[in-house]
Amino acid sequence: MSKRSFASDNNAGVHPEMIEAIRAANDGHVVAYGDDPFTERAVKVFQKHFGKDIAVYFVFGGTGANVLGLKAMTNSYEAVVCAETAHINVDECGAPEKFAGCKLLSLRTPDGKLRVEQIKPLLHGVGFEHHVQPRVISVSQATEMGTVYTKNEFKTLARFAHDNNMLLHVDGARIANAVASLNANLKEITVDAGVDVLSFGGAKNGMMYGEAVVFFNQQLGENFKYIRKQGMHLPSKMRFISAQFEALLSGDLWRRSATHANRMARVLASELEKVPAIKLTQPVEANGVFAVIPEKHVEALQKKYFFYVWNEETSECRFMASFDTTEEDIKDFVALVRKIVK
Ligand SMILES: Cc1ncc(COP(=O)(O)O)c(C=O)c1O
Repeated sequence: MSKRSFASDNNAGVHPEMIEAIRAANDGHVVAYGDDPFTERAVKVFQKHFGKDIAVYFVFGGTGANVLGLKAMTNSYEAVVCAETAHINVDECGAPEKFAGCKLLSLRTPDGKLRVEQIKPLLHGVGFEHHVQPRVISVSQATEMGTVYTKNEFKTLARFAHDNNMLLHVDGARIANAVASLNANLKEITVDAGVDVLSFGGAKNGMMYGEAVVFFNQQLGENFKYIRKQGMHLPSKMRFISAQFEALLSGDLWRRSATHANRMARVLASELEKVPAIKLTQPVEANGVFAVIPEKHVEALQKKYFFYVWNEETSECRFMASFDTTEEDIKDFVALVRKIVK
C-alpha cells in the first residue's frame, strides 16, 4: 500500500462507499448525459438539503464548476471580486479570465476571508464606462487558508452584494468541511445566508470525481445547460457522478468524512504547536493547518510525509487532512518532527 501524506485532500484515494456506489451503478444501460434515474435521485437529494427552489448541474471538476458558474453570473465588462489567495485567482491558470471572460479584482486578506470594508472602494467606478463593473463577490468556504466564514459573515457579504446590484458566489470545494466546522446544516450557511451560486465540492470529500453547480437564484441558471456543454463539462456517463452524490448526501457520509478530516487537522495542529520552533499562522477551522517550519528541516520532513511549502519566502507550509488521515499518521509524523526540528 502506498503511504499517505499531508499534501492535499485531493491526494487521498476514493472513499470505499463511493467505490461501492459506482460499482452498484455499473449495471446495464441508462440514458447518457443525465437523463437517468441516478441523476434524478441525486437532484432530489440536493433538494432535500437546500430546498426545492434550486437548479443543480453536475460537472467533472472544481475549476469547471467555478468558471462556468461565474460565466453564468457575469458579462465580459463585469468583474469578480475575490481574495488574493482564492483558487480562482491563483490555481486555475487564468481559466476564469479566459472562459468566464471577465476580470478578477483580487484583494489581500490576512486569512483568506473577504470583508465588506475592503470591497467598498471597488464600487467607486460603478456606472462609469471606463471601469469594469464589479458584479460578483466570490468567496471560498472553507477558505484556501483553512479558515471558515460564519453564517453572519456570509449574510453581511450577501446583503452588501445585493444592495449593490452584485451577487454572492461560493467556491465550496470544501463546503462539507466548513459546514461540519460550524456544526450547521448545508442550507443555513448557503441559501439561507443569501448565497446565489455555489460550487459544491465532491472530490475533497471522498468522491472519485464530480462537483455540482447549485443555483439558488434560479434565473441565473436559466442557460446553464448550454454553458455547461459549451464549456466541455457535460459528462456523458453522468450516472457515476450522480450515484456518488446520492451516496454522499443521502446519509451522513459527507459530514462524517469532513468532521473526521477537521478533527485530524486540529490534532495535528495541537501537536505542532508544542514544538517551540514551529509557529501556526492561521486558526485551524477546517481540514488545513498552516505553520512556519524552519526551512532547513522542510526537505527531511517532506521525504517521509509530503506536504507543500505554501510561502517560499517565509517557509510557511500547508498540511491537509482528509477522510482517511489516521491518528497513527499524525503520531508518526509528529515523532519525526520532534526528532528533526529542534
Ligand atoms: C478552493 C478550491 N476550489 C476549487 C478547487 C477545484 O479544483 P479542481 O479543478 O482541481 O477540481 C480546489 C482544488 O484544489 C480548491 O482547493
